[in-house]
Amino acid sequence: MIDLHARRLPVVQAPMAGGPTTPELVAAVSNLGALGTLAGGYLSAEAFEEKLSATRGLTDEPFAVNLFAPEATAPDVPAAERFRERLLPLAERLGVEVPEVRVPGDDTFFEKLATLEASPVPLVTFTFGMPDHAVVKRLRAVGTAVGITVASVEDAVLAFEVEPEVLIVQGPSAGGHRANFDQAALPDQLSLDQLLARILPLARVARASIIATGGIDTPERARTLLDAGADAVALGTAFLTVHESGTRPPHREALLAGTRETVVTRAFSGRNARGLRNRFIDEFDLVAPASYPIVHFLTKSIRDASSDGPEYLNLWAGENYRSCRDETAEELLGRFAEAL
Ligand SMILES: Cc1cc2nc3c(=O)[nH]c(=O)nc-3n(C[C@H](O)[C@H](O)[C@H](O)COP(=O)(O)O)c2cc1C
Repeated sequence: MIDLHARRLPVVQAPMAGGPTTPELVAAVSNLGALGTLAGGYLSAEAFEEKLSATRGLTDEPFAVNLFAPEATAPDVPAAERFRERLLPLAERLGVEVPEVRVPGDDTFFEKLATLEASPVPLVTFTFGMPDHAVVKRLRAVGTAVGITVASVEDAVLAFEVEPEVLIVQGPSAGGHRANFDQAALPDQLSLDQLLARILPLARVARASIIATGGIDTPERARTLLDAGADAVALGTAFLTVHESGTRPPHREALLAGTRETVVTRAFSGRNARGLRNRFIDEFDLVAPASYPIVHFLTKSIRDASSDGPEYLNLWAGENYRSCRDETAEELLGRFAEAL
């Protein structure tokens, strides 16, 4: 089990699926006294196992793992079929095929869970929903604490049903996907501070620790959230441009250039996510359905085919991405260590 207060630094490197959270990044962060998180989402069961053991090979410090919880609501399939038709002209221009719509599996959730039972970590966190009682019981049986990510007060209340040790409270400035349990939910408009103020009293009663996340880019901002009652803060976007991360070069360059605005869109995956505005978002945002993860698979060949430029890639970024620097994890965490 994890004790967030036992870490030298109350800073968590947020999970970021799709490549950024390499074993090198996760281990570097944990070795520096903060807490790294390995993102398990989108990985095959084999790739997940490999990354887990590679991370273990690089650190003896605790680190966390993050998984996508199985979706509670079914994706809108007919809407995904219509969206597929709209993608065809662009796919043709790029010379790639768009796969047929198929209702995908559970992101090999139960295989990954079995790996984590055989080879436990102190904390497993979830996004896009909550694990059921049986999953929580299996993790606790091997000494693993459970964390659930919430982006609304309603989801926090639901999450307390399984008595998580940790609640990750994600504010609306966050980069990447919103954690909402219901993929069709409209994004919550409460700020991170407002969410914290409402959720903290509930967490105290439930004896859950709180990690605050979303738009945290300076030690001063982290201090404010810790003073407000958070047990730790998690940074995602700030780690996207550190040397140890696996962020794709055009994504990294667009973050460091700082010229684009961030917007929330369903265009790339069917779930709301914040990223840098580009041509793909301009063309598809208004017509993208709440059909996660079907849309993620429909847009994959387009994203892969255009991965040398920024216009058709998902350039996830939090609202405060302009604070990103070309630096090492040690330099980034050093600024926080000085002030916290
Ligand atoms: C590229 C990227 C990928 C992400 N992938 C995940 C993920 O796999 N699981 C998850 O719980 N959150 C994911 N998130 C959200 C982050 O964990 C975190 O909530 C967010 O980055 C915090 O806001 P910030 O980016 O402003 O620091 C992702 C965020 C980004 C930027």
